[in-house]
Amino acid sequence: MTPPARILVTGATGAVGSAVQRALDAAGHATYGVSRRGGTGARQYAWRIGQEAAPDALRGPWPVVVHCAADTRWNLSTERAAEANITPLRALLSTIGPETHFIHLSSSYVTGLEGTSDPSAPDAYRNSYEWSKAAAERLVRAERESADIVRFPIVMGARSDGRLDRYSGFFWLPSSLCSGAVPALVAEGKALLDMVSTDDVADHIVRIVAGGPPSDHRLAVLGRGDRAQRVEEVFDTILDALNSWRTEAGVPRLDHLPYVTPDQWNRFYLPFAEQYLDRAQLVRVTAFRAYQGYLSVTEPFAVTDRVADTAQVLHRSIRRWADMHDASARRVPRPWGA
Ligand SMILES: NC(=O)c1ccc[n+]([C@@H]2O[C@H](COP(=O)([O-])OP(=O)(O)OC[C@H]3O[C@@H](n4cnc5c(N)ncnc54)[C@H](OP(=O)(O)O)[C@@H]3O)[C@@H](O)[C@H]2O)c1
Repeated sequence: MTPPARILVTGATGAVGSAVQRALDAAGHATYGVSRRGGTGARQYAWRIGQEAAPDALRGPWPVVVHCAADTRWNLSTERAAEANITPLRALLSTIGPETHFIHLSSSYVTGLEGTSDPSAPDAYRNSYEWSKAAAERLVRAERESADIVRFPIVMGARSDGRLDRYSGFFWLPSSLCSGAVPALVAEGKALLDMVSTDDVADHIVRIVAGGPPSDHRLAVLGRGDRAQRVEEVFDTILDALNSWRTEAGVPRLDHLPYVTPDQWNRFYLPFAEQYLDRAQLVRVTAFRAYQGYLSVTEPFAVTDRVADTAQVLHRSIRRWADMHDASARRVPRPWGA
């Protein structure tokens, strides 16, 4: 698509959508951003897709629609996850014609626990978010003869400075390390934790917009694949970034936490500790459980588009998180006691 194309970007105030919109603007396109609450700046609109009709300014036809809007929470019921991630997609698809180049953003984790996004049963996935994103991909394939589906793993900030417009659940980790909310790292140290930068996603979108729509369904999987960082390297990088920031801020450095495998944790430590932990501690260790499935992935994603190394991106993103969350990043963890 030769610039300037009129492009609708949903989820434009989010971590990914904001970077995608900036990159498309920089490529010379005329983008229109949509979010539930509406962003600031030119051509930003509030539209709760799936709950109300599109504002007049957003009526089509659209040469290109990039669907970044989603609710990325893992703890919704399946009904609410469907309302959040499937109903809006169905509504959006009903407003666009076959001539639109439709680009759907998805997650590498839609392959769930069985390595495929085919199953419709929720127990084939780690959580309702994965389940709803897999269902969304199936809906795109069923409803459209032509579409781009772009999967990617955990998103870090910009390659140059770690900038992220919104912080997702992953940043619970640096926050927890600083507050002492977790007593141990429940993970397989050798597991792979794949990541991309917002730039990797945004640059890919700019490229496929330039190339025009595919003839049928085209799947791209961005990431590092078998060259992704190991979980232990990720934790070391996070600790290193936090400690470099804390040293400059005059705050005591954080210690390494011990590793415990999910199996050891769930079978021995947790049942034992549950007898002694207070309610607040229990809430925290239970919340951390949701991450175990993501910190023990040993099978690499089958990437189609390998991105450049992400270790520096992670380091910069964590430092940037600390800049933006000064009070959290300065906290001094208290030792766990029963
Ligand atoms: N972040 C990651 O690590 C990651 C990893 C893999 C894949 N992804 C995928 O990347 C895409 C973008 O994720 P993200 O991290 O940028 O999400 P995000 O930061 O949570 O932003 C979500 C965006 O979607 C908007 N939105 C949600 N529901 C909407 C609705 N019904 N109508 C209109 N706007 C709606 C939000 O608007 P408000 O701000 O007004 O609520 C916000 O602009 C999603 O498809 C996600 O599944 C993300």
